[in-house]
Amino acid sequence: MPITRPADVPHPLASPAVGAELQQGLLATHAHVSPKFLYDALGSKLFEAICELPEYYPTRTEAAIVARYGAEIARAIGPGATLIDLGAGNCAKAAALFPLLHPAQYVAVDISYDFLHEAIGRLQQRFPHIEMTGLGLDFSQQLVLPAVVRPERRVFFYPGSSIGNFTPDEALAFLQRVRAASDEAGGLLIGIDLVKDTALLDAAYDDALGVTAAFNLNLLRHVNRLLGSDFAVPQWRHLGYYNAQEQRVEMHLEAREALTVRWPGGARQFAKREAIHTENSYKYRLPQALGLLEQAGFGTVHAWTDPDQWFALIYARPLAR
Ligand code: AVI
Repeated sequence: MPITRPADVPHPLASPAVGAELQQGLLATHAHVSPKFLYDALGSKLFEAICELPEYYPTRTEAAIVARYGAEIARAIGPGATLIDLGAGNCAKAAALFPLLHPAQYVAVDISYDFLHEAIGRLQQRFPHIEMTGLGLDFSQQLVLPAVVRPERRVFFYPGSSIGNFTPDEALAFLQRVRAASDEAGGLLIGIDLVKDTALLDAAYDDALGVTAAFNLNLLRHVNRLLGSDFAVPQWRHLGYYNAQEQRVEMHLEAREALTVRWPGGARQFAKREAIHTENSYKYRLPQALGLLEQAGFGTVHAWTDPDQWFALIYARPLAR
């Protein structure tokens, strides 16, 4: 059975709570919208394109670490795991691990279910012997896996520094939830982006082709569909830059002119240059990342980095409770 969408798991963004969450963020003094709304079907494709950009180093740097240390990573993890890919997207990163890891089951979880559905269908054809399950879940607040996910040797895979899209407090809570869902024979393979030169970070999140700008602006169309709002994309400008004090890249959408956005039951006026905060992407120093994992109940088995120390791939095992 290649693809499962359990009947008791609704579409992650289809609930009335989503409208309330969006409205609350838009009406806040400093307007904000969660980065999870970047990922409708087009947003997922735009993120795929970002990963191909020369400026966006995380994807290729992480892939180079896997290519160089794949055998060591596979030895640390061992075969026959239940590989749970959190934020699987096009499943390409996990697919690169299959020939090394030989998982017993592959569980791809993503908020953008339709995109995932297509990706996992293609993957099942390439790897017919691996049991595969796709789950459309928003795991940012809670991590409840349905019974279809094997309980044994759960190895969570959280690549691409997606952990950076949480605040450090949220990241800790998230890692604690992963720890709670793990068994002691399992583990967590996590990619974490490291602090580096500001110019490199600025370029990675404000690329010359404007793909990241399109990715950010597309959030407005997604919000229009979910909330019934009337955001007009040409009235907004993408901003993406490193805030060294907060140790994070920030993305914002800035109003090019004074304007009003309306939706059923609400409205918000924006002054010229007033912005909506759409994403943080925290960067860690390696000891900070290891400390966070330890606080969440994981012991580090190994951390692999690239020669420039731009990115770290860490395999962590649950500490005994
Ligand atoms: C998914 N996440 C780790 C990406 C990042 O780098 O924070 C999302 C992204 N935002 C802009 N470019 C890429």
